[in-house]
Amino acid sequence: MNRADESTYFRDYLTRTGDMMVIKMDHYLDVYPRILRGWSGRNLTFLEIGVYKGGSLDLWKGFFGGQARLTFIDIDPACKALEIPGTHIEIGDQSDAAFLIDLAARRGPFDLIIDDGGHKMNQQLTSFRALWPQLSDGGLYVVEDTHTSYWPGFGGGFRAPASFIEFAKDLVDRMHSWYTDQDAEFPLHPLAREIGSVQFYDSMVVIEKHLKPAPVSVASRNGQIIRSSKLLEVRGRKSIF
Ligand SMILES: C[S@@+](CC[C@H](N)C(=O)[O-])C[C@H]1O[C@@H](n2cnc3c(N)ncnc32)[C@H](O)[C@@H]1O
Repeated sequence: MNRADESTYFRDYLTRTGDMMVIKMDHYLDVYPRILRGWSGRNLTFLEIGVYKGGSLDLWKGFFGGQARLTFIDIDPACKALEIPGTHIEIGDQSDAAFLIDLAARRGPFDLIIDDGGHKMNQQLTSFRALWPQLSDGGLYVVEDTHTSYWPGFGGGFRAPASFIEFAKDLVDRMHSWYTDQDAEFPLHPLAREIGSVQFYDSMVVIEKHLKPAPVSVASRNGQIIRSSKLLEVRGRKSIF
């Protein structure tokens, strides 16, 4: 699939669905081409939490092609019957960390994980904590429908400390935890070495895994490139810049 086809794939797909309904927020059809640019046809491992009527199985199979290893989970046993060739559905609870870790041992590690399950805070948080270690370097962890972070009925609320949005904001701090000497309240966190980006879209959070060494600066003059190892000594400074 070329770049132009990738950019329209998700919107076009809606006109080609069969009797297995797919359900997404409309603007996700524009977000997915942005975050998955160049990913079509990749021989990857994929996990989506939430099957419902099964429509997303064919959506993702069509985007990635027949070589991809596509796994889906749902708590509803009836979903198992929605499996199509080239896909695998397992029945289980996304808030059961042991189930997710066992699944990942058999079907992972994953290049792309999408949480479109129950959308409750404990479900999203438990799944992220269990599955983040099962995400490959360069992989993406997508949490859909994060507007439920603002819904008390789902365990959220405005600035509710236990919401997934607040957790994701905290990941932004962890990602930057190189750059401070406030060791007591803000120690260097292991996730600083693992998170490449945290992207907030309307109702969707995308966390990119990028295993990386401590940051360095790079300077160049007259084509001479100098990397500063001094900047590895970031701890003990207020800022490296
Ligand atoms: C929004 S639907 C999924 C839609 C589907 N991904 C699509 O794109 O068409 C949510 C699904 O999550 C499932 N679900 C709810 N709670 C769950 C849980 N604790 N563990 C796994 N799946 C769950 C529901 O049974 C439902 O089928």
